[in-house]
Amino acid sequence: MCGIVGYVGKREAFPVLIEGLSALEYRGYDSAGVALIDKGSLVVWKNKGKVAQLKAFAEKKVKPGSTIGIAHTRWATHGVPSQANAHPHTDAKNRIALVHNGIIENYAALKDKLKKEGVVFKSETDTEVLAQLVGKYYKGDLVGAVSQALAEVDGTFGIAVIAGDNPDVLVGARRGSPLVVGVGDGEYFLASDASAIVRYTKRVIYLKDSSLVVLNRSDHTIMDLDKKVMTYEIQHVDYTAEALAKGGFPHFMLKEIFEQPDTIRNAMRGRLLVDDGSARLDGLNLVMQQLRQINRIIFVACGTSWHAALVGEHMMEEIAGVSAEVEYASEFRYRNPIIDPHTLVFVISQSGETADTLAALREAANKGATVLGICNAVGSSIARETHGGVYLHAGPEIGVASTKAFTSQLTVLALLTLLLGRMRRISHDEGITIAQALQEIPEQVKKILKQNAAIKDIAKRYWKHNNFIYLGRSYNFPVALEGALKLKEISYIHAEGYPAAEMKHGPIALIDKDLPSVVIALKDSVYEKVLSNIQEINARGGQVIAIATEGDKNIKKYAAHVIYVPKTIPMLSPLLSVIPLQLLAYHIAAFRKCEIDQPRNLAKSVTVE
Ligand code: AGP
Ligand code: GLU
Repeated sequence: MCGIVGYVGKREAFPVLIEGLSALEYRGYDSAGVALIDKGSLVVWKNKGKVAQLKAFAEKKVKPGSTIGIAHTRWATHGVPSQANAHPHTDAKNRIALVHNGIIENYAALKDKLKKEGVVFKSETDTEVLAQLVGKYYKGDLVGAVSQALAEVDGTFGIAVIAGDNPDVLVGARRGSPLVVGVGDGEYFLASDASAIVRYTKRVIYLKDSSLVVLNRSDHTIMDLDKKVMTYEIQHVDYTAEALAKGGFPHFMLKEIFEQPDTIRNAMRGRLLVDDGSARLDGLNLVMQQLRQINRIIFVACGTSWHAALVGEHMMEEIAGVSAEVEYASEFRYRNPIIDPHTLVFVISQSGETADTLAALREAANKGATVLGICNAVGSSIARETHGGVYLHAGPEIGVASTKAFTSQLTVLALLTLLLGRMRRISHDEGITIAQALQEIPEQVKKILKQNAAIKDIAKRYWKHNNFIYLGRSYNFPVALEGALKLKEISYIHAEGYPAAEMKHGPIALIDKDLPSVVIALKDSVYEKVLSNIQEINARGGQVIAIATEGDKNIKKYAAHVIYVPKTIPMLSPLLSVIPLQLLAYHIAAFRKCEIDQPRNLAKSVTVE
């Protein structure tokens, strides 16, 4: 999820690796490390904290003459940010060093097996398991050992590996996580992202998924994971490092919106059990017996995470049959909430550092509640202080306006609903229906993203308006709130989200030709009722932008613009309906030339009360 840099050539490797890591800093990370080969042995420097700190303490100790090495910036997924958990990881005999992006799903089983064989682990990471496996198979043929080890792992990886007794060979491999080779003159670079290497070479090979690369100073070989030689293309990159960092997108927010098919998939990876119609969430640290006794859940969060909680509340009550409530963390912390032994408190926070959410967590824990977290940032304060929880695995979110974290939160809440629901009122068949629908979401999101240009056209017509209203009902009322928040945050337009039927109790007074209404009108149990609301808006000269279900031609009669989303089950519909709203807010803000990634007055993590 974070950064990899590798080098083999004729230059001193250390400065090249440090420069490369610095170019990847934009991604956000928690630790950094480097491995070099010095006279036949591996030397590793790594630490929690910034690349500049790593540079400062390692620089004086690096002996000249190391012309091969690997480096990493870590964004923790397994194990807190610490020196021991930082990459590179080495095997028991210190013969190979490896850096890794991604997640080894079956690491626990592999770790148990290796422990039985006598391997002593130095870290809590999933990555070390892979390093130990490569070490186990390494008998002088590095690519052979890597291929053999990778055959045993499930999950995603981008890796770079070196062996101390083999100073001419750098091996890389990928599945799911990106990796790019930079082709120089008598030298090669390897990186998770071309921005790390463009200052050295413009000739790059974007490795295809499930491939292996062997680099030495004079040539390179690209193979599949079974070592069958593959074809490839050398491309010329002409972008600046900054443009590349954003993956060709003008803003991180847009890049993150487009990452959602992958981040949603990552949130369910290894957790969704389609055949059982259920989910496994080991991080909760609760046994079945405890989960069965829960009869009430309180979700506590702020902002976008609070909107995700509202959807979670609805899922929990309707599908799992567990009574649920949602609280603003800032309110909860100063109340005297009633908590009994059958109540679970879930705090939801992308950053894991939001001051109000942290204080609410402490308040609940103080009252004896079991407090669990749904967080993106591993090792964050909230992750550390909760009794257990579920990570989003969405990768760092840079844009201040949260997008991919929201859909990952919804995915985790759906998994939780499945898990608790199957212990209560969901049958095996119903569980399978939900699990299959969840599995289809990433492709459905992709389909919506293809409408980006059409959504931009709508934004072009409306960007000058100074007020908007967003309406939705049932599962999509929180999506209306989220759509309005996105628009406010990045375009500075006043926008309100309302339950569609509440409009007649006040906001309808605002409707006229200058107030566009964004209405989520999916084909669900409240469809007819929302259509009536749309007609009420039309009758007052208002303009409607509708988010509708694919195939619904009828709605065109009532709405000035329609954006279609594929059909799914109601509890999952927010995962789809929010995507056009994120894009609409983004394009409106872009037309208004706003600072999209860092809107005025906002901070990515609100660590003050
Ligand atoms: C989202 O776009 C906002 N920037 C903000 O509302 C955010 O969701 C809120 O501050 C909570 O942050 P957290 O999820 O990191 O706790
Ligand atoms: N899963 C690995 C870890 O937690 C890799 C994290 C990353 O991609 O930075 O160490």
